[in-house]
Amino acid sequence: MDASLYAYPDLGPAPQRPWVRTNFVVTVDGSAQDESGVSGTLGGEADHRAFQAMREACDVVVVGAGTARDEGYGPTDRPLVLVTRRLDVPEKLRTSGVLVLTTTDADTDLAASLESDGVEVLRHGTGTIDWEPALEALAARGWTKVLCEGGPHLHGELVEQDLVDEVCLTVAPALVAGEGLRPAQSNQAVRRDLRLAHVVEEDGVLLTRWVRDR
Ligand SMILES: NC(=O)c1ccc[n+]([C@@H]2O[C@H](COP(=O)([O-])OP(=O)(O)OC[C@H]3O[C@@H](n4cnc5c(N)ncnc54)[C@H](OP(=O)(O)O)[C@@H]3O)[C@@H](O)[C@H]2O)c1
Repeated sequence: MDASLYAYPDLGPAPQRPWVRTNFVVTVDGSAQDESGVSGTLGGEADHRAFQAMREACDVVVVGAGTARDEGYGPTDRPLVLVTRRLDVPEKLRTSGVLVLTTTDADTDLAASLESDGVEVLRHGTGTIDWEPALEALAARGWTKVLCEGGPHLHGELVEQDLVDEVCLTVAPALVAGEGLRPAQSNQAVRRDLRLAHVVEEDGVLLTRWVRDR
């Protein structure tokens, strides 16, 4: 796998909004979770290499608290933005280099405790994240290459709001049946057409990249 496949497009000087890439691995029957409810092992080495290439290509990683908790996230080489309403942040992420993106009505004591551990707390929106200003705030810091690593509920919101520019989807050679989450979950069905930007096969795993032309 050639890491240059994951270069971000040139957005020109000081774009108002970042480019939002999302990354998922999915089984042949469409599940974003394996039989034990996580996803880390589904795509094997090929997916792991693509995952690393995407992390190296981005300015900032954005992840939902559900994924961070389930997959045991720790700090990354890039700034990590953890999205949470409840401010239930895993111990490993209570450190500098981690930003928490939450709402204006989130608990102030919990926020202060996170800040005392070196976490920066960003607040956008009341009740739920107001995504456009939140993404603009990332761009204002010079973080224009966003990598969103899910999970499905966070991704579903971004798809609903048409804020996803690109989806990198690994298709893992497995079936799991069950009731696993799909890569985008939300209450409202929408349609966002995509253009295939690349498909690469490695070790029987398909690495695909799909772009939203606007
Ligand atoms: N196949 C893959 O590539 C892949 C990728 C990622 C995750 N996954 C799997 O997906 C599962 C977790 O997915 P998930 O959909 O349940 O979790 P998620 O989307 O990662 O996280 C959901 C949580 O994010 C916070 N959140 C989301 N939207 C918010 C908003 N608008 N405002 C405030 N907070 C918001 C809330 O956190 P609080 O509860 O803290 O308030 C919410 O409970 C895991 O099993 C993981 O393994 C698979």
